[in-house]
Amino acid sequence: MALRGKHILIGITGGIAAYKIPLLVRLLIKEGAEVRVMMTEAAAQFVSPFTLATLTGAPVGMDFRRPDGTWNNHVAWAHWADLILMAPLTANTLAKIVNGQADNFPLAVLMSAECPVWLSPSMDLEMYRYPAVRDNMAKAASYGMRVIPAEEGELASGLKGQGRMPEPEHLFELIRQHFQNRPPLPDLTGKKVLITAGPTYEHLDPVRFIGNHSSGKTGKALAEAFRDAGAEVSLIIGPNHVVDGSEDYEVVPVTSANDMFEEVKKRLDNSHIAVFAAAVADYQPAEVKDNKIKKADERLTIELVRNPDILAYAGRHKKPGQVIVGFALETDRELENAKEKLARKNADMIVLNSLRDPGAGFATDTNKITVIHRDGNTRSYPLKDKKALAYDILHELEKHL
Ligand code: CTP
Repeated sequence: MALRGKHILIGITGGIAAYKIPLLVRLLIKEGAEVRVMMTEAAAQFVSPFTLATLTGAPVGMDFRRPDGTWNNHVAWAHWADLILMAPLTANTLAKIVNGQADNFPLAVLMSAECPVWLSPSMDLEMYRYPAVRDNMAKAASYGMRVIPAEEGELASGLKGQGRMPEPEHLFELIRQHFQNRPPLPDLTGKKVLITAGPTYEHLDPVRFIGNHSSGKTGKALAEAFRDAGAEVSLIIGPNHVVDGSEDYEVVPVTSANDMFEEVKKRLDNSHIAVFAAAVADYQPAEVKDNKIKKADERLTIELVRNPDILAYAGRHKKPGQVIVGFALETDRELENAKEKLARKNADMIVLNSLRDPGAGFATDTNKITVIHRDGNTRSYPLKDKKALAYDILHELEKHL
């Protein structure tokens, strides 16, 4: 089950090799992958969306409108994927990809991708060697996409030459190898993992709150990494735009630090691992007004009271064998502050991110972290996307299991 938990999105365009994609889908699913398919109108002339929907157990993405009239969120499709493979890819769609044209659903998904994108251009030999097509393949490669060379052999035209889509078994093998290049995740099957994420909002009155810029992206990436490792995940997340209900783990939306604390307390004792990635407000208004606060004097003083420290609570109630991970966002004396925080809150590991690093921090897709262990060992990682860092954090955490 080398592909357990991996999300693979296949985009089919209108080429004859489309009829082979159901076989690829079956191979991937057998190896544990979750597969979704999107296709162009032309592709549906070659292979039935119904076949693919049946095999994958999910609707096939063809349109920005779902049959019930709601929006088929192409960004959510893109972000779901750990790998997007366009196969077979026609010369026409290849040209649109390199020109940034998004006049159909699969193209819009592809342009929203955060994961690797692979292309398998397949066409007749003359088309395959046509200069503009060659240029487009080179351009796609220069944009960071992996272009899988077509194979030599018999073509639909009856001619022989380069242009065939690699057989499903071959494409499957490339995908398997790709995911195996990462060191294998620890097997967390049967382990319960609790993660806090996002900001908290502390209400002042019915319309206002005190909040912060946390996006919840790191917490979501962690939830996905733990899910990939087979764990049972509960993500307790403050107000955010990153979860959309399509997650295949428990998501518990909360608003304030108190709400978050209550939800953590319900699950903490049963959790093997608890990761506190939320940016919890340290204070809340001493009083929440029933009516909107009207402006009056030049100055307004709001009294704040301390919020519960959720991580510190978890540290105080730590059970034998339980692993507790905290986060620290520091602006000065980073390492000392983080080490001090680890000890004070009785965590096993602290993930430190510094606001000084460009590309690191709250709303970005990337981050730069240093992991500090209880025994004083530390390791710094280069700037990476948050999903890759979540995998690194899991590997660091393995030492405590
Ligand atoms: N945290 C928490 N509950 C709080 C405050 C923080 O669970 N009320 C957790 C965060 O999720 C994070 C860690 O504690 O894992 C560090 O939070 P931070 O606010 O940086 O630390 P503090 O201890 O509040 O220290 P300071 O405000 O002095 O930086």
